[in-house]
Amino acid sequence: MRIVSGVQPTGRLHLGNYLGAIRQFLDLQSAPAHDCFFFVADLHALTTIRDGATLRSLTLEIATDYLALGLDPDRVAIYRQSSLPQVTELAWMLSTVTPMGLLRRGHSYKDKIARGLEPTHGLFAYPVLMAADILIVGAERVPVGRDQAQHLEMTRDLATAFNQVHDEPLLRLPEPMILPDAALVPGIDGRKMSKSHGNVIELFAPEADLRRSVMSIVTDSTPLEDPKSARGPLYALLKLLTPPEEWAESRRLFTTGGQGYGALKTRLLGLVLDTFRPARQRREELLRDVGFVESVLNAGSERAATAAAPLMAECRRACGLAG
Ligand code: AMP
Ligand code: TRP
Repeated sequence: MRIVSGVQPTGRLHLGNYLGAIRQFLDLQSAPAHDCFFFVADLHALTTIRDGATLRSLTLEIATDYLALGLDPDRVAIYRQSSLPQVTELAWMLSTVTPMGLLRRGHSYKDKIARGLEPTHGLFAYPVLMAADILIVGAERVPVGRDQAQHLEMTRDLATAFNQVHDEPLLRLPEPMILPDAALVPGIDGRKMSKSHGNVIELFAPEADLRRSVMSIVTDSTPLEDPKSARGPLYALLKLLTPPEEWAESRRLFTTGGQGYGALKTRLLGLVLDTFRPARQRREELLRDVGFVESVLNAGSERAATAAAPLMAECRRACGLAG
């Protein structure tokens, strides 16, 4: 099965990215029948990051983090989105069949404008570029968090419109893969964990910063001796990170009382550190070997280009463009 997904290099990876998306990438790469393409969405990040040096270094950092977390370049293609020119080419073809009304309904566009971002064409057309990422490699499944569900629907709409206009089943309709329990990981303030909300727990922050983030998780004023609320982000994050066999004990600490929120936060911090300890170590090694990360990205681009080229040729032919 063909699988594709990407992460924007607009900041450092956080628990939402890991639990909603990257954990799925790791599971999926293990099945021999899967053919996986995981990229760094630098063209998408260009809609918000204007400084070339910053974008270049964040892109390399996300690729490094993919490897540190265990993506295996022998099994999956890891590449920069901007290394695959077929993506922007297909995005243009798709844009010629994209109704303006479809883009106007985009939640992500509306949210970004509401946050004060300048309404550029790039932001508006963001879903068309994302559709091209997915369709150009003929992906059947796309592992993402729930915030991307509408983009996946749009991708299917655009593929259908393109196939109809050209009267050929050229583009395959992909399905999203969204983990029900980690579809929308809450941040330390209880809203969706997101770089743009400044409420993240980063995977690779220094331990002191991690401690500060975890200790800032909002809680209510339940007294120490009383049972604690299972509604806030602390409970949700603990549940997501606690190994299933230890969950009964963690849950008991919430429901029986006698344990302050501080102690429960310390438990969560321990889990974050334990879960990512091997990845943190591996990341330190990778940071000293940028050449290796670059070589992985180059090999990944070649694999992605090999997957994209035949479909691009078909699309050009169907549209009547130069062959
Ligand atoms: P982004 O950082 O926006 O490029 O997101 C990369 C991936 O992480 C996408 O698949 C998102 O859906 C996923 N993701 C980001 N934030 C969260 C969250 N709070 N909960 C679940 N998934 C998330
Ligand atoms: N838009 C996605 C996000 O913000 C990132 C992304 C870009 C993506 N292209 C993609 C995800 C293709 C999956 C498939 O999270």
